[in-house]
Amino acid sequence: MEDFDYSPHSMMRKRFLALFFMFFGAMAPVAPAQNVQLSVDVSRVGAKIDRNIFGQFAEHLGHGIYDGIWVGLDSSIPNTRGIRNDVVGALKAIKVPNVRWPGGCFADEYHWRKGIGPQRAVTLNPNWGGVIEPNTFGTDEFMDFLDQIGAEAYVSANIGSGTPQEAAEWLEYMTAAQPTTLAKERAANGHAAPYKVGYLGLGNESWDCGGNMTPDYYLDKMKIYSRFVRNFNPAQQEKQQMRKIAVGPGGGEPRWTEWTEAIMKAYQQHSWSWDINGLSLHNYTVVKWPPAYASTGFGETEYAQILKSTLEMDSLIAKHSAIMDRYDPQKKVALVVDEWGAWYAPLPGSNPGFLVQQNSLRDAILAALNVNIFARHADRVRMANIAQMINVLQAMIMTDGEKMVLTPTYYVFKMYRPFQDATFLPVTFDAGTYTRGDITLPRVDAIAARDAVGQLWLAITNLDPNQPTEIEATISGVRARAVVGEMLTAPKVDSVNSFDAPRAVVPKAVSFAVEGGKLMLKLEPKSVTVVSIEQ
Ligand code: AHR
Repeated sequence: MEDFDYSPHSMMRKRFLALFFMFFGAMAPVAPAQNVQLSVDVSRVGAKIDRNIFGQFAEHLGHGIYDGIWVGLDSSIPNTRGIRNDVVGALKAIKVPNVRWPGGCFADEYHWRKGIGPQRAVTLNPNWGGVIEPNTFGTDEFMDFLDQIGAEAYVSANIGSGTPQEAAEWLEYMTAAQPTTLAKERAANGHAAPYKVGYLGLGNESWDCGGNMTPDYYLDKMKIYSRFVRNFNPAQQEKQQMRKIAVGPGGGEPRWTEWTEAIMKAYQQHSWSWDINGLSLHNYTVVKWPPAYASTGFGETEYAQILKSTLEMDSLIAKHSAIMDRYDPQKKVALVVDEWGAWYAPLPGSNPGFLVQQNSLRDAILAALNVNIFARHADRVRMANIAQMINVLQAMIMTDGEKMVLTPTYYVFKMYRPFQDATFLPVTFDAGTYTRGDITLPRVDAIAARDAVGQLWLAITNLDPNQPTEIEATISGVRARAVVGEMLTAPKVDSVNSFDAPRAVVPKAVSFAVEGGKLMLKLEPKSVTVVSIEQ
């Protein structure tokens, strides 16, 4: 209860305090901007940043599929053949290159026949809360969804509890053009033309939820799937052949390096009868297990701890790439980081099996740092899938009934669209340091690229949550006229977009001066900025 005191003495004191804060408050010390010299050498062209590093992962888990994508034909939520229109519109805007489905751990218990045709089997989802799996979203609905958002299919075959025959028949159902019984069944289910399947996952975490296999046992199984699970689509025989992705490591310890060694050694000696084009890597930013960090209502220390942990992605990729280089110096096998992102404690009140967490400005910065790491390893990392697309873990989108909100991570993916299939250009800069307690991180991170039409792009993250950064950027051999783009920041490291305040963390348009040939960028604390360099 406020204590009102209207005595002349008290009123004078209040007026004095108000004036004091008006005057000196305005002069309160603003943290000085740190200065960073940065240069881009456009003559030293790097690898293509494959658009597939912006891939998504959608598992039958919590509300990732049901409610997130699929609302059904009878829903009052606007939909096209049961798939929500708002989600499709939002995903189209970020140009999703591929979607990994149906899991995750779910994939190794998924039996595709239960999810096709007019009569769907009702099963259970023992991995994720033991809830009912209605199978109303199956293969044909997934392909329809991909068609609506303009993405390619990355399907994970069940090699844990399924059989090679079941997986082979799934691919025949999806891809056969000739009038086989399965192709006719697909036609009867509404799709006469064969589907395109761009990527096939040969199991998921087969060293753990996928069957706890040893590398040798996995290899024996995987070779059989690689041999017999064929893609029959005539359009994918010469060009656009389906890429097969083997289960890879889930960390950096000897257990994981031994796994990578085993698969890559076998690959080096592989015969005509089997092949792989990718090795998966799973790496979540979790700090400790089980996930205990809060996804909202945290402070600067937790911000710094999470970012420190996420930056370990770089050394992890380097470690496994070095092993792959020994057996595959031509880099034919891609490292596919097909599960990555922040994994926090479940939101209070949510079903712990549904992996529901909030998504804050911290996650936007985390996403930008990881994409920058993938881009720097673009010669080996040619695909990545953030976990997960909607309502699960580090989501792009959250839904609640008819409501939808776009997360800070979504906006990073949107801002980074120009980097899809652009050519990496090396950037040199002294990142400086940001320190919180005993944690020291680089203050800034940056990548540059040239897109297909020759436009130059720069993405810079200022990790420091307290101090702005002034970048003086030199682009050798380029006469820049202007620098325009977008910056994403928010008042606090744990600022979020909620259903009530969906635009708390959205990018703002920015433009910067060019002085004496140098681009003068002013970055807000805790911000992600993407700009094009106008010539
Ligand atoms: O993304 C959630 C789960 O994490 C996936 O199902 C599994 O592959 C991983 O352990």
